[in-house]
Amino acid sequence: MKIVKTIEEVRAAVKAWRKEGLTVGLVPTMGYLHEGHASLIDASVKDNDRTVVSDFVNPMQFGPTEDLESYPRDLDRDAALAEAHGADLIFNPEPAEMYHEGFSSFVDMTVLTQELCGLSRPVHFRGVCTVVSKLFNIVTPDRAYFGKKDAQQLAVIRHMVDDLNMPLEIIGCPIIREEDGLAKSSRNTYLNADERKAALVLSQAIKLGSELVKNGETDAAKVTGAMKAHIEAEPLAKIDYVKLVDAATMQQIPVIDRPALCAIAVYIGKTRLIDNFFTEDVK
Ligand code: PAJ
Repeated sequence: MKIVKTIEEVRAAVKAWRKEGLTVGLVPTMGYLHEGHASLIDASVKDNDRTVVSDFVNPMQFGPTEDLESYPRDLDRDAALAEAHGADLIFNPEPAEMYHEGFSSFVDMTVLTQELCGLSRPVHFRGVCTVVSKLFNIVTPDRAYFGKKDAQQLAVIRHMVDDLNMPLEIIGCPIIREEDGLAKSSRNTYLNADERKAALVLSQAIKLGSELVKNGETDAAKVTGAMKAHIEAEPLAKIDYVKLVDAATMQQIPVIDRPALCAIAVYIGKTRLIDNFFTEDVK
């Protein structure tokens, strides 16, 4: 496995693979890899002849008061994990390689990004869409892999690829959890011991909500109400949102009468964590 820093090196590697008629999968990440990322690499290695993992903490998707500076980084560890899972190339550019001086073109989206995480993170999805478009143009993959952990991100990227006729397939992969249920996240490293315990309210609320839906509850307010009550009982938790939305449009719905996404964002101390379930996955 090779680690490269420049766009030119990625292009050269992909060109050589294409000459041999090989297929290419891309797993975009911000590094500090864990089993969630590893599951995406596994899926790509299974489906494609070659797998590229991008490892880039994208400054453009962080708001001015967010955790860009403190976001955890460890390239050596990432390289060992990616290699163990069969990746062929890590692309780990410096910000200046991705955003040269005078950079001024953006990929932005209306509607889907005005809900859920877009409300508390106004510049986030513009940064995600821009960097993911750049990665697609640099790597030109046949398939790209994203986790359902970031359900809105997955929906936004699917929509972007459809709107802009990008010639690749987007594959959504299941949420990977710790043994006690907490969804794996690079940001879990911010939690102290008390917060780590308190963070369990997220996966517990997801379990509670998904069981209500499984048992036939269709009143969205009843589902989200029960989930909110559970989270509010934890003193270290502060709800950003607990919502049931149309899985395709991300618009809130009062009745679960179509494929829906139940998504939550909760502050545990200063750390903002997310979790979700798709109603289609629990029925
Ligand atoms: P990052 O948070 O590093 O996540 C990279 C990919 O791993 C995303 O598709 C995310 O959904 C997936 N992932 C994270 N935790 C997971 C888990 N517990 N189970 C399954 N998949 C999980 O998402 C980003 O980076 C960035 O926004 C990026 C798309 C790379 C653009 O900068």
